[in-house]
Formats: sequence, structure tokens, C-alpha cells
Amino acid sequence: MEDAYIIKGGKPLRGQVKLSGAKNVALKVIIASLMFEGKVILKNVPRINDVLELLHLIKILGGRAEFIEENTLQIEGKKLSKNKVDLYHGSKVRVSFMLAAPLLYQFKECFIPNPGGCRIGARPIDRIVEGMRKIGIMVEYDSQTGFYKVSLEKKPGGYYRFPKPSHTGTEFLILLSALSDKKTIIENAAMEPEVDELIRFLNESGGNIYRRQSTIVIEGVSKLKQKKVFNIIADRNEAVTYASLAVASGGEIKIGKIPFPLIATFVKKLETVGGGFIQLGEGEYKFFYQKRLKSSRIETSPHPGFMTDWQPNWAVLMTQASGESIIIERVFENRFSYVGELKKLGAQINFIEIPIKNPESYFFFNFDPQKIYQQAIRIIGPQTLHGGVLNIHDLRAGATLVIAALVAPEESIINGASILERGYENFVDKIKILGGEIRKI
Ligand code: EPU
Repeated sequence: MEDAYIIKGGKPLRGQVKLSGAKNVALKVIIASLMFEGKVILKNVPRINDVLELLHLIKILGGRAEFIEENTLQIEGKKLSKNKVDLYHGSKVRVSFMLAAPLLYQFKECFIPNPGGCRIGARPIDRIVEGMRKIGIMVEYDSQTGFYKVSLEKKPGGYYRFPKPSHTGTEFLILLSALSDKKTIIENAAMEPEVDELIRFLNESGGNIYRRQSTIVIEGVSKLKQKKVFNIIADRNEAVTYASLAVASGGEIKIGKIPFPLIATFVKKLETVGGGFIQLGEGEYKFFYQKRLKSSRIETSPHPGFMTDWQPNWAVLMTQASGESIIIERVFENRFSYVGELKKLGAQINFIEIPIKNPESYFFFNFDPQKIYQQAIRIIGPQTLHGGVLNIHDLRAGATLVIAALVAPEESIINGASILERGYENFVDKIKILGGEIRKI
């Protein structure tokens, strides 16, 4: 199987990119559709590995979900015939645990393996399990099988306050309480725009869910039925990857269409370091190199902060900036798998210790004072990168390595293309259209 890229960099990338649908909306909306009455049609669904893997899982569960056009998916609601999520395929997709929502509505009891996805830290689901219990769902973990048994005696409802926000945790509790005769209140809920897209999808189909800042209220309804085709919004992570590529390679790339608030924090930061940005039209922008970038300090945080998924891309930009840049990762442990790889290309990048007064509240993961963490890096630039043989360890790190290889004037081999393609649609074609020399081997 072809699972590596061979890249020859050193050229400014120029052209136009049509953004694909957002992975982290599509996955949840597909799962939500399984709770609906009748057929659901979703447009702009990206054909990425995570989506294909989820569709496979649904098929194994006896459900029907298939592409009827290039990016149009048709899903049959309430058609699952098994209540146990396959261990092997389930462990490949982080959101597989969310299948518990449609399964519970159909069977009252289901079995879910420990969630998979990118290995960007321990990624426990303790808050999620606590939230489920608070709204009346029974969850037991069997450490011998690695499966959760999830069951429901009466319709869910109640109150849960996340001790620290969780993006998929919030979405999962919304799904679990959407079909009910009770009300559920979630406090300290995630503010991510993907959560609001899921709410929009459910509300367009008969749901009754509203948000007041970080409080989400779900008034349960008796059924969900699609009234109009739902269009998956563009992927803000893909947008930032191509924007970073434009500036890092010394080129210019037009990107669209995506609502500005989804990328506003990134754009603001890019402008402060001297990256070029122009709004062209409604939802369309040009990102370009205009002068040597300035160094920066960023720390990641949930929306509307600087997103954790953007920091790996930002690191390559900072290898091209003058001076010392600092990146602090607050959301996930272990989101610096690219550091050792970028060093292979000659980047001056190292882990550093930053004194943090209250790490328990500063970090969004469950901070353990007994553990040693590496949550901050220093990058010294500008640095001329050279070619190398690299390995992708997680999705966003994958895009970062490709950007770095496209900046370096020599040839590079990047192993683990399938990890990157979990989240980027038509990646090789899009890079080629921009003039990048990339081939799969
Ligand atoms: N956490 C816990 N316990 C929980 C839930 C979360 O300790 O019960 C921790 C996580 O381990 C993490 C932090 O809390 O350290 C925040 O996690 P959150 O649950 O908010 O993240 P997530 O839902 O697992 C989603 C996206 C990520 C994206 C983050 C931030 C999906 C499928 N994943 O992750 O996207 O980075 O929110 O917006 O929506 C990606 O696309 O590659 C990706 C990793």
C-alpha cells in the first residue's frame, strides 16, 4: 500500500484551494443522523479516512450510509441491527464512542470499545462518563474486554457541569439528551463552532437546543426528521494549513469559502507577525508572504483561543521567523510529536520548561503533578530547512511535516500518509494544483 509522500520543496506555492467539509462536523452529524426518522442527506461531506472508517463501522453495525454523489452522503436513520461497536475499527476513530447515542435509542443497551483516534496524549473520557451518569445513563467499564457497557432505563435528562470543557464530550451529551421527555443543562460546555453546527443540524430537524455562552440547554423532543439538506461547513483546520503553507513557502494562496469567525484568531496572530492576509469576498481570502516574519509567543486554548490543531503548522512558520518563538500547548498532552521530525530537517527547536503557577487549572487535560510533561517549545529562526526522511505520528503533525518538506529545497520522504489523510481530502491533488512537487509512493 502506498503510504508515504515523496516531496521536492523550495518553491513558493501559488493558486487557489477549495476547502473541504469540516471533519469534526461531518463525523458527529453522520452519527446524529442515525438517530433520525427516515433518510438524511448531507452535502459537502469530505471523503477522508476518518469518515470512510466511520461509514465502515456503521455498515458493520447493520446501518446504511453511502455516498450518492462525490461529497453527498445518504444515511438511513434508525436502521442499526447490532449493538456492539467493532473493537478493531472502533479503536481507529476517536468518535466511535459517540455511536452509543444512536445505539442506546434503538437498543437501550450497547457495548463500546475504548475510544481511539490520534495519540495526542492519554485522552481519557472520565468527564464524559461522569456527564453520562449525571443524566441518568449507566456506564460500566470491563477492563478484561476493553468495552464499556452503556445502558438506559428511562429517558435521559438532568444537569452536568464539565469541570473542564470537552468538545466531543459536549456534543455527545447533546446527542444523548436530544430525544427525551426531559430537559438537560450542560454548563461549562465547549464553545467550539463545530458544536454549534451540530446544534444547528439537530434544530433544523426538530431539535430544541439552545446556548447561552457556555451553558447549553437541551429540551428533549420525541423525534428528529430532516426537513432540508444539511451542508457541512468548511474545515477551519484545513484553511489554516493552506494559509500556513502560503506564507511559509513564500507564495500566495486563495482560500474559500469559510466564515471569517472560524479563522479570526489565526488571522489576527498571522498579521501581528507580518504574514499577508486580504479578504477577497464573502468567505474568501488570500494568504501570502510579504516580508520576513517576526517571532511570536502563542499558547493554545479552546475556542475562541488559538486552536491546538493550529500550533503544529504555526511551528513551521516560526522556523522561518526572525528570533525566538515560544509555543505552549494547554489542551492536549503530547501534541509535539513533530518536534523530533522537524529537527531532522535542520529546525532549531527544543522543549523548554515554562513555570506555570496553577498547572491544574492552566492545562485543559487532567494534570498529574507526579508526571513529567513537555508542553512548551522554543524555536529559533530563521532557519534554512533541508530534506530528510520523516514519520507522521498524528494528523495535524502530518500536515506540518508536509509544509516543512515543501519549504526545504531538497527531496524528503514522509511516511504515514494515511494518518494525514484521516483529515485532509484530496491532499496530493490540492498540493499539486498549487505547484507543489508531491507524489505518493
Ligand atoms: N479530556 C479528559 N477527559 C474527558 C474529555 C477530555 O481528560 O472526559 C481532555 C482531553 O484529553 C484533552 C482535553 O480534555 O486533553 C480537551 O479535550 P476535548 O474533549 O475538548 O477534545 P476532543 O473532543 O477529544 C476535539 C477534536 C480535536 C480538537 C479538539 C479541540 C474531534 C473528533 N476532535 O477533540 O480534533 O483538537 O476537540 O478543539 O472533534 C483533530 O481533528 O485532529 C483533533 C484532534
